[in-house]
Amino acid sequence: MATINLGFLASGRGSNMQAIIDACRDGRLNANPAVVISNNASSVALERARNADIPGYHLGLITHPDPDTLDFMIIEILQRYEVNLVILAGYMQKIRPKVLNTFKNRIINIHPSLLPKFGGRGMYGMKVHAAVLAAGEKETGATIHLVNNEYDGGLILAQCKAPVEQNDTPESLAARVINVEHRLYVETLQKIINGEIKLPAAR
Ligand code: GAR
Repeated sequence: MATINLGFLASGRGSNMQAIIDACRDGRLNANPAVVISNNASSVALERARNADIPGYHLGLITHPDPDTLDFMIIEILQRYEVNLVILAGYMQKIRPKVLNTFKNRIINIHPSLLPKFGGRGMYGMKVHAAVLAAGEKETGATIHLVNNEYDGGLILAQCKAPVEQNDTPESLAARVINVEHRLYVETLQKIINGEIKLPAAR
């Protein structure tokens, strides 16, 4: 079977990306972490790419203020590394139509709640966990979904639950959910790659 090349888009800490890289490197995941793109020059994600000897690129509205040029560059880099699956890992930018169409049904995101709950514009990172606590939820979790042009609105591929404990803070909840995320992202990619989860057609 041809190797699946993964292209990561990450803005910050990149711990989900690292979990996936580790799984590739120790043979749990039959894929090649091919390239990392970050909109943040000083992101830990780019540092992780350097440490793992994966090509890393800083591409964002600072390097390319014109969004069309930026999209062209993102696509050019992903195609240069023959990326088959685009993995969003804490990427805090909306994916615009040109990139969505070029990698139709091949862009995957993780979100730290049980979507459709606690998703949508402005719902990311710690804000999600604070909203879960404010709503008095008894459980939360993580969702892997395809990316479309709606915030957190694409086809759900997998979910995993995590309990909300009585004395949780947003930080303690985030710490519990991130462990679930790492596991779920690797397991879901395994299922996509071995055909257990079928993605809709790319064209
Ligand atoms: C993760 O919790 C991820 O689910 C979330 O950002 C964090 C990134 O952590 N993404 C979103 O909220 C997207 N709406 P990481 O950089 O350590 O992987």
